[in-house]
Amino acid sequence: MRRLVSIDGRIALPEDATISVYDRGFLYGDAVFETLRTYDGAPCALEAHVARLLKSAKRLRLAVPGGAAAVRAQVLGALAAAREHPTDDGYARVMLTRGAAPLGLDIDLAKAPGLIILVEPLPPPPAYDVGIRAVTVATLRVADGTQAAGAKVTSYLASILALADAKAQGAQEAILLDGRGQVIEGTTSNVFVVQGGAIRTPGEEVGLLLGITRQLVMEAVPVETAALTPADLYAADEIFITSSVREVVGVVAVDARIVGAGVPGTVTRRVHDAYRARARAAK
Ligand SMILES: Cc1ncc(COP(=O)(O)O)c(C=O)c1O
Repeated sequence: MRRLVSIDGRIALPEDATISVYDRGFLYGDAVFETLRTYDGAPCALEAHVARLLKSAKRLRLAVPGGAAAVRAQVLGALAAAREHPTDDGYARVMLTRGAAPLGLDIDLAKAPGLIILVEPLPPPPAYDVGIRAVTVATLRVADGTQAAGAKVTSYLASILALADAKAQGAQEAILLDGRGQVIEGTTSNVFVVQGGAIRTPGEEVGLLLGITRQLVMEAVPVETAALTPADLYAADEIFITSSVREVVGVVAVDARIVGAGVPGTVTRRVHDAYRARARAAK
């Protein structure tokens, strides 16, 4: 899969792809996005990603030019243009911005939303056999508590800083906690704990992004939704995170406390296998 960019359906090489410095995605983070990957050349859960992009756009009162059909067609067009072999895999970052406009917050200043798709080769896979370390970080995201809560908005600053905190402590992911100390999600992932054979994950009410990987995992294996705190993380037999690009990754330490045996556990491995089978079939 080669790197390519689609701007409103026009394909460009990354070095030639430009948008206006007046784009409100850049000026104000006034944009929403999706990240989806392919399996054997075909996008995974394209319909769910398009639906979530439209839901995010609606929360921002952002029009989607051409609606779901145009988004679907442009994603498929960009992937087809980037593919060098029929079964090439990669991922697409699909962004819908309110577009370029004169300075000012008024949404009516912007007349032409833009759909920009970056197609990228897959990054090297996480060390699934070794797992990752995580730290908990109490924070507030830009959209938390606003009309846009739950939308996948491009303003990821709180998560960027949380991940920087994690990195400074030798960890690869931050698990975000809300004002009451409840687990929300990872910076770009959802969080699951395994204890006594039961798999639990926080519910939508904590203000998490309803991950599509999370959903596919919940369809593949029994999962309960439950409020989780750092104490649940510390007492877990296993913890794993999920995301479209990373799939299912074991967390072997939280806040420098070893989780279970300190290696990704058997339930995590089983969930990962079940997820992969499901993801390959999810259109
Ligand atoms: C904040 C957040 N939560 C969860 C996820 C996982 O979502 P998905 O499984 O749809 O990739 C992401 C993915 O980027 C994310 O940014």
